[in-house]
Amino acid sequence: MNTAKGLKGVVAVETSISSVDGKNGILLYRGLDICEVMKKASFEKAAYFLWYGKWPDDYELTTIKNELSQHRMLSSEMKQLIDGLRKNMDMMSVIRTAVSSEGTMDYSWKPTIGQAIRLTAQVPSIIAYRKRTLEGKAPVSPDPALNHVENYLCMLYGSVPSKAHANALEAYMILTLEHGMNASTFSARVTASTESDLVSAATSAIGTMKGPLHGGAPSGVIDLLHEISEATHIEKVLRGKLSKGEKLMGFGHRVYKTLDPRAIALKERLLQTAGEDPWLDLALETERIAVELLKEYKPGRALYTNVEFYAAAIMKAIQMEPELFTPTFTASRMVGWTAHVLEQSEDNTIFRPESVYIGPDHSVAGKI
Ligand code: ACO
Repeated sequence: MNTAKGLKGVVAVETSISSVDGKNGILLYRGLDICEVMKKASFEKAAYFLWYGKWPDDYELTTIKNELSQHRMLSSEMKQLIDGLRKNMDMMSVIRTAVSSEGTMDYSWKPTIGQAIRLTAQVPSIIAYRKRTLEGKAPVSPDPALNHVENYLCMLYGSVPSKAHANALEAYMILTLEHGMNASTFSARVTASTESDLVSAATSAIGTMKGPLHGGAPSGVIDLLHEISEATHIEKVLRGKLSKGEKLMGFGHRVYKTLDPRAIALKERLLQTAGEDPWLDLALETERIAVELLKEYKPGRALYTNVEFYAAAIMKAIQMEPELFTPTFTASRMVGWTAHVLEQSEDNTIFRPESVYIGPDHSVAGKI
């Protein structure tokens, strides 16, 4: 029997939520190019589109915004649970534990969009509550007048963010809502396939996202931008790295062998605010020079900017701490995970792949 290590190349599900074409650099949400989604949608609208497979009308959009707003407030039990966690527990473990504590009868099989909305609303509040209480600051209550992303930044930092910062983070969060059958989404679907509840599926996904091979922070890009910001010549810094055989963080991609469509879309959005923020301008200039140098030092390798580069540029611009990057990614990806669990529940078959036994045979095992 042939093994497909890491299930590489194995088609495990049929989905109508998103399509990832690494060869041609195309990412579609429900058949629509993500650049189009970016142009049309707010976080709330894009989430609705992924959950329902159609755009909301005005009434539906107001309804989903109200539902998110209702569920943003953490219960006193949730706050007590977070307060009782060890101070040195990393944020991803805090989110995993807090989300897991949501598991009550209300979440029993089958999953519903209402449950998905509740989990999506809760994650930013969990992150912000933990961050502020650890820092000895008073938690900031969600404000129904603010949208999802504004609320997140306001609960984190205690003041209403600028439009430029909120728009930049919203662009990043829309682009990371969903990305095909990645490890955490698969994990969520495997758990759901046992007819376990949505909270359990989301908890599995968060645990999977935590690993450095999946949701790891773009701290290398942040370091690079920092180094460049302190130098006088961007080109000199980049040449120095390439001539030593170092990789430029935020460039190249395992799946996308052409332009990463998320990077294109993010850049498009960032260009709207260029000139307003020195970090974004620095990132755009760094990209321009780096792409040229990569052609010179690595001819024929087709190395382009990946989404991590702009993610880091955005985090830096809005002064979000690097340790909040993966949690923020989790806050947006909750939409994709829950959409997949809902899809799994519609036509469920339990996941049960085979394994090939390669241990000792019976006669040898008896002598061990
Ligand atoms: N800077 C300089 N050279 C690079 C870079 C880079 N960022 N990326 C690849 N190369 C070079 C390699 O040195 C190699 O050169 P060689 O043929 O002379 O040996 C060639 O391009 C192929 O590189 P591989 O690492 O084999 O390419 P692969 O597709 O397997 O790796 C990866 C993709 C891991 C993302 C790589 O491009 C990289 O390490 N980039 C920097 C880290 C980074 O930005 N990671 C985030 C990715 S986005 C995401 O995960 C959501």
